[in-house]
Amino acid sequence: MRVVENRHIHALYSLLRLTPADGSKLPEMLPGQFVQVEIPDSSSTFLRRPISINFVDTTDNTLWLLIRNAGKGTARLIESPEGLIINLILPLGNSFSMPEQGQTGRLLLIGGGVGVAPMLQLGKVLKLAGFSPEFLLGARSKTDLLEVDMFEETGVVHISTDDGSFGEKGLVTQHSALADSSGIISKIYCCGPAPMMKAVASIARKRSIDCEVSLENMMACGLGACLCCVENTVKGNVCVCTEGPVFNINQLTWHD
Ligand SMILES: Cc1cc2nc3c(=O)[nH]c(=O)nc-3n(C[C@H](O)[C@H](O)[C@H](O)COP(=O)(O)OP(=O)(O)OC[C@H]3O[C@@H](n4cnc5c(N)ncnc54)[C@H](O)[C@@H]3O)c2cc1C
Ligand code: FES
Repeated sequence: MRVVENRHIHALYSLLRLTPADGSKLPEMLPGQFVQVEIPDSSSTFLRRPISINFVDTTDNTLWLLIRNAGKGTARLIESPEGLIINLILPLGNSFSMPEQGQTGRLLLIGGGVGVAPMLQLGKVLKLAGFSPEFLLGARSKTDLLEVDMFEETGVVHISTDDGSFGEKGLVTQHSALADSSGIISKIYCCGPAPMMKAVASIARKRSIDCEVSLENMMACGLGACLCCVENTVKGNVCVCTEGPVFNINQLTWHD
């Protein structure tokens, strides 16, 4: 795929917009799925890196990837010049499940850090299907908030920052949008650091709220061959790259 635009939206993050280099139409991609990106011109980062589908813009046939500089591979990706051709395998993994039509109750999409990435595409798809997604986004501080304008175009946005520089001060799990008094939540979708997802899962379990999380286990092949991404579930060990990355919390062996 060809890099159409590389928007440096933060000191650590870039938003890459890519389109098929041969001009073909993007395949269908479901919210929660990911791509395996080959790091261009890098012999030291041999393995592809898994990156979530952030948004599929059907108006201009572009795939958006929100990339955080976490190490050698992603550092190289966020420097990609416009016009560069990048090799991707896509789409991979399963997807978030859609709520039943006519369901009542709030749909809360919770994202922390780079975990906000898959929530945008999920929110867009939910909105298109006639639902009203609500987002709860967590960041260290105001300057670390990502794509807030895109989320605001899609639904109600709640924000929490660790330092209180924007939205409510504290962790997403302390936000009033998640409190008992905030109205009945019928489903929670969550992606972010493991401690955050575990804390959200614990709240969901206690309040019997249906909850799906997207795991970001280390991956190598992304195709179910190397077993490097295994997660223990109630059905035994499974590969997150092929059986996930999205799991209902009832499938996981997370305990409070
Ligand atoms: C399904 C899935 C979706 C993801 N979506 C995104 C996304 O949308 N945007 C994004 O920026 N990142 C995403 N990640 C994380 C991203 O894949 C890693 O940050 C990346 O592989 C690190 O590669 P690197 O070469 O930059 O760092 P490395 O030099 O390989 O490692 C640097 C540091 O990152 C840690 N790391 C490596 N792999 C992972 C991983 N899978 N998860 C967490 N930490 C890791 C290493 O332990 C090390 O501390 C996703 C991961 C998965 C599994
Ligand atoms: S990453 Fe190789 S099996 Fe999942």
